[in-house]
Amino acid sequence: MCGIIGYLGYREAYPILINGLKKLEYRGYDSSGIAIFYENECSLYKTKGRVNELEKKISSYKIKIKGTTGIGHTRWATHGIPDDLNAHPHVSNSNELIIIHNGIIENYYAIKIILLKNGFTFKSKTDTEVLVNFIEYIKKENKFSLEEAVRVSLNEIVGAYSIAIVEKTRPETIIIAKLGSPLALGINKKEFFISSDPIPFINYTNNALYLKDGEMAILRKGEELDLRKITNNHKLSPIIKKLKINLKKIEKGKYKYFMLKEIYEQPKTILDTLRGRLLISKGIICIDGIEFSKDIFINAKCITIIACGTSWHASLIGEYLLEEFIRIPVEVEYASEFRYRHPIIKKKDVVIVISQSGETADTLAALKLAKKKGAFVFGICNVVGSSIARNVDAGVYTHAGPEIGVASTKAFTAQITILILLALKIGKHKSTINDSRYSSLCKELGTIPEKINYILKIYDYIKKISKIYYNFNNFIYLGRGINFPVALEGALKLKEISYIHAEGYPAAEMKHGPIALIDENIPVVIIATKKGCYDKIIGNIQEIKARKGKIIAIVNEGDIQVSMMADHVIKIPDISEELSPLVTVIPLQLLAYQIACIRGKNVDQPRNLAKSVTVE
Ligand code: M6R
Repeated sequence: MCGIIGYLGYREAYPILINGLKKLEYRGYDSSGIAIFYENECSLYKTKGRVNELEKKISSYKIKIKGTTGIGHTRWATHGIPDDLNAHPHVSNSNELIIIHNGIIENYYAIKIILLKNGFTFKSKTDTEVLVNFIEYIKKENKFSLEEAVRVSLNEIVGAYSIAIVEKTRPETIIIAKLGSPLALGINKKEFFISSDPIPFINYTNNALYLKDGEMAILRKGEELDLRKITNNHKLSPIIKKLKINLKKIEKGKYKYFMLKEIYEQPKTILDTLRGRLLISKGIICIDGIEFSKDIFINAKCITIIACGTSWHASLIGEYLLEEFIRIPVEVEYASEFRYRHPIIKKKDVVIVISQSGETADTLAALKLAKKKGAFVFGICNVVGSSIARNVDAGVYTHAGPEIGVASTKAFTAQITILILLALKIGKHKSTINDSRYSSLCKELGTIPEKINYILKIYDYIKKISKIYYNFNNFIYLGRGINFPVALEGALKLKEISYIHAEGYPAAEMKHGPIALIDENIPVVIIATKKGCYDKIIGNIQEIKARKGKIIAIVNEGDIQVSMMADHVIKIPDISEELSPLVTVIPLQLLAYQIACIRGKNVDQPRNLAKSVTVE
């Protein structure tokens, strides 16, 4: 889960690499580095910290880095702590080969032992330094060209990688390869751009090729792309796509952080998710991916939803919705657990995978496993053309636009919107939802954007509450029914960006243990909207108050009972239970954001996290 970048052409590489790395920081930002090649020499700079630190370090040398071939890397540490030595690029023992790598080499230790026995030494603790030396070893032992050495070495590698490698004395060639981790190639006349995603090169070209797993490419200055299969060296015909990316969508504009911008975008992103898919006046839901799969869903004996993190919380909401409206049992699984526990999936079972990035390694591996077992796999993804989107049997894009903040917000509400459409559409087709309920929910879905707009207007009030609570060390989040996953999501948001310990529970579970924690030092954020188990939640609140817990309650406008008991209330518009997560989560996102800001945290790039987790 790092970002890689490269350039080969006629322009100066340095600005392309540095600016590109800044755009890839969402993939990791604990250290970064570049290597630029000029007249058989390599200028290599790397440092701990963000790309800004690298830029500062280089400008302090007051030199002009020349060269039209270069590679760069921004890191999220897997093997070895974030420091200058472990930062990429890594160099082979002879100083001839220079590599950048995103992924994990799982059999690196066994290879390292062989290399040590053959006299190799290592400066870093990384698997990548092992890989570059392994390539050097294979090259020298067999007197191979770099192309052949890379190919043969990669056939011995277990794990995931996207790599770019250069031989110092042949700077007119870069070799790239992919397995598991993403790798996009921008192609112009006489130049190539390498990147983990196309954003860094979209200003230069929209002609792009996404390398597939098991492919490598030899990029030679001024020559046509040479694409090959890693296993057998067969030449492949490149399929070059024209990308359509609106760069305005990935600028912060007036907002201090992308996360706040993305929270505020939700009325629009939900509209975008619904656009052309829900005809409110006629109560018609029409989405190609669902249309194509609806009979498969209806005939399924059970449905399994697989995801990680926030997408897993959306999956839990999907469980409520699908069981309620289509009356088929649903299981929700963490992708990382599913793939390693011999799951029972039979032919024609339906598996839904949910992922914002479409690149999460565990989710992708779970998808492949489900397909291998014969399941029909339906995807809900945000990033168009992502690995998950390309591998499912059918699916739907969420259309939330690029989500840059590491803490997922608008992707979550877009995922829920798709799950609602899916459950309503299949339920109607199966006649497990009655017509009037179906039409009233379709109508109500159309009112969600204005309801979110209403909540966004009370941000000033949430700022006031945040000032009171920002210094507490522990929080509990409670919800019931379909709002229990929202409580989990609220807690995750707070943990991720403010580093405050927070746990989410179903409200009634309190008395089975967590209530022991309650005293005046624990704020409890509770979703207590009128629908669902309102009376029961009042009971839960009384139990907390009796133990001096502080209550921040999310209630409906006009609420009296909870408002009398809670220390602070955040009022939101009334909404049907099934649609309520779309609005109850908004104040929780704002609260987490504001508390993190008061605590002075970097909201968009929280420590230890990366936007896209492309390693196991
Ligand atoms: O891209 P994905 O939806 O597959 O990502 C899954 C999780 O890594 C992600 O939701 C993560 O938990 C976020 N940081 C949550 O804010």
